Amino acid sequence: MTSAATDPRTADVLVIFGITGDLAKVMTFRSLYRLEARGLLSCPIVGVAADDWTLDQLIERARTSIEGTGITIDKSVFDSLVARLSYVSGDLADASVYERVGDAIRGAETPVFYLEIPPFLFGRVVQGLADAGLTTHARVVVEKPFGHDRRSARDLADQLHQYIDESQLYRIDHYLGKMGLEEILYLRFANAVLEPLWSRNYLECVQITMAEDFGVEDRGHFYDPVGALRDVVVNHLMQVVAAAAMEPPSRGDPTTLKDATTTLFRAVEEADPAHYIRGQYDGYLGIDGVAKNSTTETYAALRLDIENWRWAGVPFFIRTGKRLPVTQTELRLVFKRPPRLGFGPSGHIAEPNQLVIRLDPSTGVRIQVDAHRADAARIMPIELDMEFGEEGGEGPTPYEVLLHAAMTGQSTRFTRQDAVEETWRVMQPLLDAPTPIHTYEPGTWGPAAADRVPAGLGGWRMPWIGD
Ligand code: BG6
Repeated sequence: MTSAATDPRTADVLVIFGITGDLAKVMTFRSLYRLEARGLLSCPIVGVAADDWTLDQLIERARTSIEGTGITIDKSVFDSLVARLSYVSGDLADASVYERVGDAIRGAETPVFYLEIPPFLFGRVVQGLADAGLTTHARVVVEKPFGHDRRSARDLADQLHQYIDESQLYRIDHYLGKMGLEEILYLRFANAVLEPLWSRNYLECVQITMAEDFGVEDRGHFYDPVGALRDVVVNHLMQVVAAAAMEPPSRGDPTTLKDATTTLFRAVEEADPAHYIRGQYDGYLGIDGVAKNSTTETYAALRLDIENWRWAGVPFFIRTGKRLPVTQTELRLVFKRPPRLGFGPSGHIAEPNQLVIRLDPSTGVRIQVDAHRADAARIMPIELDMEFGEEGGEGPTPYEVLLHAAMTGQSTRFTRQDAVEETWRVMQPLLDAPTPIHTYEPGTWGPAAADRVPAGLGGWRMPWIGD
């Protein structure tokens, strides 16, 4: 077994299992097309799936998928992309398919196998690849979910580790492909005016909001056994917690960065169900694939506590939901309220400062200060905004970033098993004792009961919406 982490050779073939599936349709073809357009693809691409398709059918699927994401196809880019494509069809349970994959990639030394398939097949596919002698210098990219609790996450890893080393495993959490997370870490530690503020010395609480204005739509079969906590909190939003709370990594290599993340997760207390509110939007039960009496949450609000020198006593409040009023993800630091001032308007108590990092759909920073305004004869909050996107144009999408990183062997943006297990540990009490489900109206900010979670600390702050 080799250590792929110390061997970042660029992939000489990309093999995509599940290329006829949904993720490939909405995400992968588009990402590959955009990588091709930027000259970042350099190897053949082999698609593998059970469907008995011809290569022409696959190419047609690539075209409709790319167009379906709103891209107007440039013929020369598309032609270069499909010239890389070949297709192997077969049952993934059948050993012969791995021999055919071996034939299709003959001569390749650093294959990247991307598994866009249900997780119960991961073990079988990796075993098949290993038995066919294809994994020696390979990297294997897998999609979440990584288990459905701590135990199953560990079982899955144990199963895969029989055939490949942890350093060869690239677990996708597409939040790690978002520029916002890298920006948070840089912003925190590259700015002396900001760094000291991220601590219990100055902050009252931290609020993370991931709001989506759309619902579960046609994903009922996937979503209903999963729910909001497993779908986005244990993974995506815990990555936001890590970026907001970790200590500065002393180097930029994957091991040091991942160690810093895991160290932070180890300091997070197990979540307390007394501070956990679950909601389900009205109408969810009518969705195809959703059990008629489902109590799956489409909304979750919870509190986390981090027991270390920097964060003890500063609660992290997290909320996420589908069918909320807007689509917006942000990280918000709420500062301690200043004392009553002996001067200035009598009775005025200054609003706590807030520092907002907007993560989605665009990225930016806002600082809210209390000040005299020129346009109003009174003191009130003023917002200082900076949009990251106004300079530098449109950046790559998370999947482009991650596919390119996997192909070039940059593992920094992929999650490591110990961190995955830590995040499950934190959430496990909430999984073990799910709290009652509260119905909420679509288009609202979720169940009223969720207001209890940050009660006493000024409540949930309205996210930074619009420009
Ligand atoms: C996915 C979840 O992982 O992340 C979806 O399965 C969610 O339910 C999505 O909508 C959010 O990601 P993004 O990048 O679209 O905000």
